Amino acid sequence: MSESPETPSPAPTTDATRRRFLGLSALVSALTSALVLVPGLGAFLAPLIKQGKETDGWVSLGKATRFGSERKAVPFTFARQDGWYRSLQSRQVVVWKDGDEWAALSTRCTHLGCAVQWKAEERKFHCPCHGAEFDQTGAIVLPPADRPLERLQVRENKQTGNLEVKES
Ligand code: FES
Repeated sequence: MSESPETPSPAPTTDATRRRFLGLSALVSALTSALVLVPGLGAFLAPLIKQGKETDGWVSLGKATRFGSERKAVPFTFARQDGWYRSLQSRQVVVWKDGDEWAALSTRCTHLGCAVQWKAEERKFHCPCHGAEFDQTGAIVLPPADRPLERLQVRENKQTGNLEVKES
């Protein structure tokens, strides 16, 4: 039996309209989700991208006028961001002006990490833990330390007038 020419076929335009509407709805939903998720995902992953130091690594020690040719121990604190973990780190350096240049040495003993002390009258650094000694430039005088004290980059910030060390 063949269909009569007068029998209307099922309206293909209704199905096509429904499919088009569903497709459009899915597209609008996907775009809306993307608008919400992409910035959120970026903010969530940003700490992983900028791991390490929170700043460019320069940390202020205070006004440069506080310092001179005598070695002076200065504690300082800076924030470190590792992934999602943010922590405050404390360090200490000895800074002084050597002619026209600034110099800075870490006070962390290279043996096992105790804080060395500057003995101005002896012109050397002494470690109270196991007796290591370093001369005024940080070179080893007496073991058990087997490396010189770490030298840090230091600069005078002309805009702020602060002395700054580069945290390593
Ligand atoms: S930690 Fe300084 S000598 Fe051992």
